[in-house]
Amino acid sequence: MIFEGLLSPQARDYLKRLGRFLPEVEKKKVKWLLLGMILTAGLETTNVGLILPFISYVADPSSIDRFGGLKLVIAKLGLNGEAQVLALMAGVLLVFVIIKNLTVFVFLRFSLNFQFVNAANFSTRLLEKYLFANFLFHLDTHSSDLVANLKDRTPLVFSRSIGQMMLLISEILITAGICGFLLIMRPWATLAGLVVIGGLGTLIYRPLRVRARLYGKLRIEAEQQLYRWFYQGLHGIKEAKIYDAEEYFVSRTRKNYHRLSDIQIFEMLMGQAPRLFLEGLTVGGLMLIIMVLVLQGGGSSEIFPTLALFGAAAFRLVPATNRILAAMLSLKMASQALVTVTDSLDQALAAGQVKTNRIADQSARYEGTIEIEALCFTYPQAENPALNQVNLSIGRFESVGIIGPSGSGKSTLLNLLLGLLTPSAGRIKVGGKDIQENLGRWQSEIGFVPQNIYLIDDSIRANVAYGIEDGIIEDQRIWEALQMAQLDQFVKDLPHGLDTPVGEMGDKLSGGQRQRIGIARALYHNPEVLVFDEATSALDQDTEREITKSIEALAHKKTIIIVAHRLSTIENCDRVFRFERGLMVEEQVNKIHK
Ligand SMILES: Nc1ncnc2c1ncn2[C@@H]1O[C@H](COP(=O)(O)OP(=O)(O)O)[C@@H](O)[C@H]1O
Ligand SMILES: [Mg+2]
Repeated sequence: MIFEGLLSPQARDYLKRLGRFLPEVEKKKVKWLLLGMILTAGLETTNVGLILPFISYVADPSSIDRFGGLKLVIAKLGLNGEAQVLALMAGVLLVFVIIKNLTVFVFLRFSLNFQFVNAANFSTRLLEKYLFANFLFHLDTHSSDLVANLKDRTPLVFSRSIGQMMLLISEILITAGICGFLLIMRPWATLAGLVVIGGLGTLIYRPLRVRARLYGKLRIEAEQQLYRWFYQGLHGIKEAKIYDAEEYFVSRTRKNYHRLSDIQIFEMLMGQAPRLFLEGLTVGGLMLIIMVLVLQGGGSSEIFPTLALFGAAAFRLVPATNRILAAMLSLKMASQALVTVTDSLDQALAAGQVKTNRIADQSARYEGTIEIEALCFTYPQAENPALNQVNLSIGRFESVGIIGPSGSGKSTLLNLLLGLLTPSAGRIKVGGKDIQENLGRWQSEIGFVPQNIYLIDDSIRANVAYGIEDGIIEDQRIWEALQMAQLDQFVKDLPHGLDTPVGEMGDKLSGGQRQRIGIARALYHNPEVLVFDEATSALDQDTEREITKSIEALAHKKTIIIVAHRLSTIENCDRVFRFERGLMVEEQVNKIHK
């Protein structure tokens, strides 16, 4: 009855999802794990069995007659006298316990290794799927949730689901082995004990099972909220301080942390409480057995071995039963984490995995005029298109500005141009070739500077040569890029030069310096096309003018596309396109260039 769950469609779904956490090679190891479990279960049972002749002999040396094999061995070894026999028995028992525990240790090491190495591998694979997932996936998810999946929920699935399932199987085997042995030795007393313990176990398990499932769900929610409040509070530290909102984040964190700790307390109690209850039950049971035996007029030679047998069995059975109960509840608790992680993996896969090939194939270069033809794009679930039938062309090394109110589709156009989004209709051609034909190649021709440069917590060098391994960064090119971004003098004056760490989130740099690092980053790869999305909007006017000058210095060496708010930013562009509600409504040739 307690195992009904193992056969339900729910349980099948559970196992199927669990299977996705292990690659095929690792699944093959499962049979070794099972073998190890059977072996340890056998050893545990034998251990209980070995205690019986020992205790019987202590209580009554003549009981040796009941163990024919043992008597034969004693005769063969020529042992005589109780002391010698006892020494033999104690020696065998001791050696056996040592071997058994060594085996248990080796197996434990193996199964923990299985668990943790696979958890690390899975989490890494999951990150890979997230990072390679189509950009649309990331528009739709909260990065803090993804972090929780990678860092908390995946290990949880491994320790709670896979680990506890292995524990469950091995404890069931041990319990079955010991109970089988007891049934042979003392059938009635065992049967009575089984009915009582089984019945009470089910009684404890049933109501807890429902709560375990519920708490598993609540745990996910509480964690999700916690992460969000952590992130939002710390990432928006300036706003938090200015609007005096620190306490707002603190109180939300407190509330959710308390929800989480209630759940954790429940989990811990479920892991421990059954044992406390079962221990009481066992003491009571043993007393009962003694009383029955005494009342039946049994002598100490009868009572003593029986008591020892049940005592030794209980010594192992109580923790086993406790673990079985705790493991079953744990599986229930982890089920929501399992579902959340696998669903999120499915979403990342469903969004499409985009792996572009950047091998420099000179013949495949994208050079020449950028032609945007009848381009349309509608975000998933959006009612109106963000871009509608846009036609425009940008000549090689021309610089163009794109303006329009916010929400008019400027960023969407850039995302399409960058190949992050795929057109719903229409196409973008460069030099007559659709960019979708070889997206990787096209992307290697573009440099992109967003409104907020994301700095990694590393040196200036690593931030300019973004994503390139240390050994193959060319400092010469870094300096060239920094020079074009007009940041070279600043970096030269730093005591550590290119090795200067930019600090967490780059708070040690001014806004203008951050943007210049972004420009240097875009230039490091020596692209054909440079794209700026409101790259100077967050800057003060003087800094903006400075940066705009740096950009203008690149004019007619690169194709430049600038999305801007302020007209001053684009006053020197060759042409300007105005967007409104997803439409290109006006094209003007700048006066200066007429
Ligand atoms: N991830 C998204 N999901 C749904 N709609 C979006 C998304 N991003 C932008 N939009 C919508 O698309 C339109 C164009 O947005 P966007 O290109 O960001 O405008 P702009 O950069 O000109 O301010 C807006 O109406 C905006 O609400
Ligand atoms: Mg925008």
